[in-house]
This record gives sequence, C-alpha cells and structure tokens, in this order.
Amino acid sequence: MPTDARPAAAWPTDALSFGGDYSPEQWPRETVLEDLRLMREVGVNLVTLGVFSWIKHEPLDGRFDFGWIDEMLDLLHANGIRVDLATPTAAVPMWLHRLHPEILPQDEFGHPLAPGGRNGFCPSSPVYRAFSLRIVEALAEHVADHPALAMWHVGNELGGGNARCHCPVSNEHFRRWVQHRYGTVDALNEAWGMSFWGNSYSSFEEVTTPSSKTAHNPGQLLDYERFSSEALLDQYLAEKAVLRRHTPAVPVTTNFMVGLGPDVVDYARWAPHVDIVANDHYTYGPDPLRHQELAFSGDRMRGISGGGPWMLMEHAAGAASWHAINQAKKPGELIRHALAHLARGSDSVMYFQWRASKSGTEQFHSAMLPHAGRDSRIFRDITTLGGHLGRLAEVTGSTVAGAQVALLHDNEAGWALKSGLKPTNNPVYADTARAIHSALFEKAVTVDVLPAWHDLAGYKLVVVPGLFLVSAENAQAVADFARAGGTVVVTWFSGIVDERNTVITGGYPGAFRDLLGAWSEEFYPLTPDETVELDNGWSGMRSSELVHAPDAEVIARYSSGDVAGYPAVTRRAFDGGGSAWYLSTDLHPAGLAEFLDRVLDESGVTPAARVSPGVEAVRRTSAAGSYLFLLNHTATEGWAEASGTDLLTGHRCEARVPLPAGGVAVIRED
Ligand code: GAL
Repeated sequence: MPTDARPAAAWPTDALSFGGDYSPEQWPRETVLEDLRLMREVGVNLVTLGVFSWIKHEPLDGRFDFGWIDEMLDLLHANGIRVDLATPTAAVPMWLHRLHPEILPQDEFGHPLAPGGRNGFCPSSPVYRAFSLRIVEALAEHVADHPALAMWHVGNELGGGNARCHCPVSNEHFRRWVQHRYGTVDALNEAWGMSFWGNSYSSFEEVTTPSSKTAHNPGQLLDYERFSSEALLDQYLAEKAVLRRHTPAVPVTTNFMVGLGPDVVDYARWAPHVDIVANDHYTYGPDPLRHQELAFSGDRMRGISGGGPWMLMEHAAGAASWHAINQAKKPGELIRHALAHLARGSDSVMYFQWRASKSGTEQFHSAMLPHAGRDSRIFRDITTLGGHLGRLAEVTGSTVAGAQVALLHDNEAGWALKSGLKPTNNPVYADTARAIHSALFEKAVTVDVLPAWHDLAGYKLVVVPGLFLVSAENAQAVADFARAGGTVVVTWFSGIVDERNTVITGGYPGAFRDLLGAWSEEFYPLTPDETVELDNGWSGMRSSELVHAPDAEVIARYSSGDVAGYPAVTRRAFDGGGSAWYLSTDLHPAGLAEFLDRVLDESGVTPAARVSPGVEAVRRTSAAGSYLFLLNHTATEGWAEASGTDLLTGHRCEARVPLPAGGVAVIRED
C-alpha cells in the first residue's frame, strides 16, 4: 500500500475517544493496576503509550526487549482500552548520544544542545534516521498483530526543540534543498535579492543556513523555515512508511501544536500525510480570553483537517508547568475546555497525562489523576467529564458544517512576517486575525480558519487578516469571490509580499490593490500605547497608513495622527453585489464590533444561535441530528435560544436554554 493511502478503519475508538498519555514505566505494578481500575471507572477508552520509551524497548544498542510493552498492551486490552502507540523516536537514548554525539542539533552559533530532554536529534542526520527507523521497524514488527493497537503516534511534537538545526549536516542538506528549489545560482540570487549589500553567490557551495547575527535576508530566512519543516516531515514520512509496511490497516498520526501560528512546522501542508489530524493544545492561564484562543485553534484544526473530525491529542487537566506562573484551571474550566474542543470538531478529549509524575521535568504538570489522587477536584471533574462523553456518544462523527465566514491563515505568511526587518519589528502574525475572530466569537458567529489556498465557495464572508504573504493565485481567488457576490475584508499588512518574500511594488497591499480600489504609499506604525482617532468615532492601534481610495468609498478617515484626513476604512462595491473592505489599522474592540455588524449585515451572515454575552455557541450536525454546544464562559447566568434536549442532563428546553454561570449544555435540537 502506498504510504499515503489511508486505511479504512480510521478512528481508534467506537465513540468519542477519552484518555491521555500514559507512562506506566514510571510506576510500580500495583500503581499500574490501580490506574487500570480508575481508567475503567471514568470511562477512559484510549491511551497514548510509549512516547518516551526507546530506552525501555532498546536498553542497549541493538538489544531489544519488548516484554514490558507486551504486558502493557495485554493489560490495556483486557481492560477494554485501545492503544495509540508511539514510535519512541522523540526520546533519543543516552547510549546513542554517547555513540554518536554528532546527531545533536546545533543552534545558529554552532553549539550542540545537551543530551537529554527530548527531540535531541538533527532532523537531517542520516545516523539518527538509521537508528530511529531500526527501532520503529523492530517495534512495529513485534506488535503488528496485537488487538489493542488502534493507532500509531509518530514521535512527539516533531520540531519541538529541534526544528531549526545549523549543524554541518543541516547546512549541507539546506544547500541541496536550495539547489533543488532554484536550479541555478542566478535564480537563487534573484529570488533572495542577493544583490542587496553585494551578497550574491557564485556557487551553491557558498550557501549556509541563516544566522540571526548576519544578513536578515527575508528570502533566505523564509526558505530556511520551509526547509526545516520539510526536513522534519521527511523523518515523519520515513517512520510512517515503516509502519504502513507492517500494519497497513492502522492509522498513523503525529501530534501537531496548532495555535495562533506561525507554527514550528507547516501543519496545513503536513496534514495530507496524517490519517487523523491530531493536536496538542495548552491554554495560557493569564490570558483572559484563553477560551477564545482555544476556539481559534479548534477552528484552525477544522480547516487543516478538511472539515472532518480531528483529534485533541493532549491538553491539560489543570496547570501547565512551563509558564512563569502556572495557574490552575478555574472551577468548571476543565469541563468547558474539553467540551469547547468537541464543539469545534474534535472527536476526542485526551490529556497530557493520565497520572501526574512524581519526578522528572514535568513533576508539577497537572494530570487527569493528580498527586492528591482520586479525592480531588480534578479527578471529580474528570469523572463527570467521562459521564458527559458517554452521553455525547451520538455526536461522534458529526461535523461543524455550514460556517458562513472563512478567515484565511497561512503559516508561510507568519514565517515571512518574522523573516527580516519590518516597519514594526517582532510583529505577532495572528494579532489581527485573533482580534477579528474574537469579535465574531462574541457574536456567536462560526468561523472556519482556512489555509489560504482553500476553496472559498459557499462562504458569505472572507476575512484576510494580516496575510502578509500571498500567492498571486490565492489573491486572485479572493478577488474572484468578491466579484462573484461575496464580501471580503482585507486588513493592513496583507498581500505585501509574494512567495519569495519580495515586496509587490506599486502601492500596498500589492496583491489586493486592484480588488480594494485603494492603496497606501507609506506605513505609519504606532507605538504600543498610541491610538489614532477616526472621524466616525472609531479608533485604531498598532498601525496606520497613508491611504488613497481612487475606486472605493471612504467609510472612515483618520482624524488624528500623522495621516489625519486620509482614508482609514474603505469599501469597494461590485456589480454582482459583492464588496471588498479595507481596514488600514487595527480597530479597538468597540469600533471593530460595529464594523463587523455592518459587514455581517451586508453579507447576510447569521450566528449559530442568539445568546447572551459571553456564551459560546457552535453547532455540529450529522445525518442523525443537530447538536448545539453552549458554553457560558461568564460568572453570571446566561441563556441561548434553542429548543431540544440537553444531552448532558436529559432536560427539555423550549425556545430558551438557561445557562448557569460557567455552565454547559449540548442541545440535540428538535
Ligand atoms: C506537550 C508534550 C507532552 C508534555 C506536555 C505538557 O508539549 O507533547 O509530552 O510535555 O506538553 O508539558
């Protein structure tokens, strides 16, 4: 079977998957037996096993011992728990570091990372590749027929810690990659603009990985990000090919880290290579809008998975341990966060990890079963959640269909933005995207966050927020959408460069200038505490521009700052009923909400439900039914308009669903 052909039986459990990373090697047997009892008690049906177990499987070079994994697979199977088995390749054994110190990744100064930790390998290293494929092969061959094996989990968070390697092997690999991409040195010099500062190459032999202390060449930096993503993908594909050979019917995935982006590797471009798109998501306690950030990530996951159910592979039952201050989840948040992932299309609720570790790096990271044991708020919530998931079984396989708004996102745009010097340095790619998503979240409008090349048919509104890099083809698709009757919102710093990270000249934003009927000649970035006023009462932050609107209506002008009197917000109407709006600054929330009301109104976009402020509403549907997820993220009583049966309580609701402070409901609609 070719490695990209998907096996038929794709999902690892019959209903929603519930469980987490499980590391029985850290515990004595009686604890493992207690784990199995408690897992059964709360309804765990899937665990991720063996993520860091290379040293257990191969304690010495070439000496394999699978007795431990055999016993664990048997025990889990006997307890009705399916296994998402990891290839252990994230945990390079110390003996391998001793034998081959050259496999360690190096930073831009040529310093190797220290052995230990995880992902301590150069993605391009042929030595690491050979050793890693040897253990994958031995493991896959050994467990191939075990009935507990439900899914493969390749490595762990590929690129976490080792994504940008500058060792000699990576340099050589990068040179070959660049040569393959550009063919001739002249083409390379042209693409990267090497005549600037007289940096032109005369041979591919002169190409190096970019160091942060040198040229800041935007084209080189962007290509290095692409190269690094592809080098890691090669490792994934090599492991996957071995797994497919031994277990053609077992789905293969790896855990992504999809957040706001840009991500460490290009997940949307990796997605076709995984059988189930899986994500690890961790909220940041001090972020007051962490539930909205979670929603953004879920909406992105849906875009990456092509709309179908995706898998929440890891999240936290309580606090993480890598932040400055690691805040526990607020009362009710454990359940709200789990259901929020389901609402946005996940068919699983998985955690890092089942039992909290006593020692090791993450000894204070929360878990489903905390240090305190079962007599704890977390475990009681986990028990309640397990019950909820059982009652939500019929939701399995349904999808969040029918979103009317598409918001375009591209990792390459984020990479391009941080590659090289900009009007404002250290820009955050998804700031504008998140602000717009957040405002739409408040209006209970469902948004598909889509890769920039996604088909736009069927949407009413397309938002292009700070999409710094865009291809001519993708820009054309947005323009066609507006000319065919759709509504488009383009914001500042979208469509500034092409795929080579080269500025599209003739007035910003070059890729969308014709569509918008407006263009800008100069950026006027704002300091963090600076605000510009608009003549209709709105105000802007972060950036302003000197805009001309020869073919567009001016909706609002700047009334303060250096560009006072010039257009700030414009709108071009098309004969077919479509329109293209340009936002040349980031509006403060009140103005943004008003702006969006107008845009939603003219495009005919409707919310998932009418709700009180702070209530999240998302609908999943299938042939079997329509399920409205309602999550009250506020500390006061709320409501939503809906009729049906709350699957969590069995209560009927006619027209209006009351939602206690922090409460949740999943309504099977009439
Ligand atoms: C993830 C990782 C897990 C665990 C978790 C909590 O990034 O995959 O192994 O470390 O974070 O910190």
